[in-house]
Amino acid sequence: MPEFLTLDDVDVNNKTVLLRIDINVPYDEKTGEISDSDRLREHAKTVKELSDKGAKLVILAHQGRAGDPDFIHLDQHAKLLERHVGKEINFVDDVVGEKAKMKIKSLGSGQILLLDNVRFLEDETTEKSPEEHTESQIVKNLSPLADIFVNDAFSVAHRSQASVVGFTPLLLSCAGRNMADEVGSLEGIFATMRMSKHDTFVVGGAKPQEPLDVISHIMKKGTVEKVLTGGIIGNLFLMAKGYNLGAPEDYIKKKNWVEFLSQAEELIKKYDDKIETPVDLAIDFNGIRKEIPVEDLPTDHDVLDIGSETIEKYGKIIKESITVGVKGPVGKYEDEKFGVGTKKILETVGESHAISLIGGGHTLNAVDIYNIDKTKFTHVSLGGGSLIRFLSGKPMPAIEALKKAAKR
Ligand code: 3PG
Repeated sequence: MPEFLTLDDVDVNNKTVLLRIDINVPYDEKTGEISDSDRLREHAKTVKELSDKGAKLVILAHQGRAGDPDFIHLDQHAKLLERHVGKEINFVDDVVGEKAKMKIKSLGSGQILLLDNVRFLEDETTEKSPEEHTESQIVKNLSPLADIFVNDAFSVAHRSQASVVGFTPLLLSCAGRNMADEVGSLEGIFATMRMSKHDTFVVGGAKPQEPLDVISHIMKKGTVEKVLTGGIIGNLFLMAKGYNLGAPEDYIKKKNWVEFLSQAEELIKKYDDKIETPVDLAIDFNGIRKEIPVEDLPTDHDVLDIGSETIEKYGKIIKESITVGVKGPVGKYEDEKFGVGTKKILETVGESHAISLIGGGHTLNAVDIYNIDKTKFTHVSLGGGSLIRFLSGKPMPAIEALKKAAKR
């Protein structure tokens, strides 16, 4: 039994409901367009259910981080979400101003309004307790207009941010369908992972902090047997093993990731036999995919994928596994030439007999692009950072806040 309330415990008819979802999706800088995603498809179910039950529905969401190219308005999201829900979704380019408040007050039963990017508010992303966040702009302005808070955003549940936790001390609060399903499924899979010795975790992607934390945690606990690295994480571990990558190191140096490199070095020192790094790499050789063994490093070209030998080696380990988790692509999957590794790894996981768990915004995007059959995985999580935080056993602020609210 979940320790928080769910949609089955609340009557939303004619009530103003604030629904936090996570529709942070890949954005193409060149075209200025966002991609469709499972995040939109899955949250659409909760949106539809609440609207069908007569809620006056106000949706809160974010896109990107301040300063990044994908830090944009949510008008495109409204259109895509509308298509998935099959009902009109109004969008207002405001979050807490008079325009937004007027729209909220004029909502009728079953009507749906998406507010603009909540991260446009300066105090949204400050990590604070739920009680402290009751003073944040979004909570101060919107809680007097609302009756119920529903959090459906598992993928942002690792953040103690205003729109994620701040309403829970003030409003009747519960988990949406996606949040409740994710927590239930992941608890089940996590219990199996802790029992089995043949467990594997494939870690790729471009954000090192949380993956490094989770590798450290699962290694200490002995939860998994093998960690297979790729993407930027793979590069970091190759450097930690003493390889001089050449030009690709510039990216890591530019980001000032010295601290992550020393974390990777510490991990390699302790768990060298369990952390696998690529044995060959695909480089961008003037627009052509060229594979080189790691012995041929350094290179003057960008490393954009794992090579065929690595794909085969990792594939063998995956096929022998009892549970497999995948977080993050192992290459620049958006470019077909360098999506080979990500595609093959995901297909192998899907075809294996292992209990499988995949997650992360870009992993889901790769599954879509390469038409990989999602039904072959035991669980597809909408979470990226939140999924690995969950797997690292650390408390999840949004879930803790919902549990506390249920006791009030
Ligand atoms: C994600 O894409 O993992 C979530 O939307 C959280 O985004 P963040 O890492 O910018 O907080």
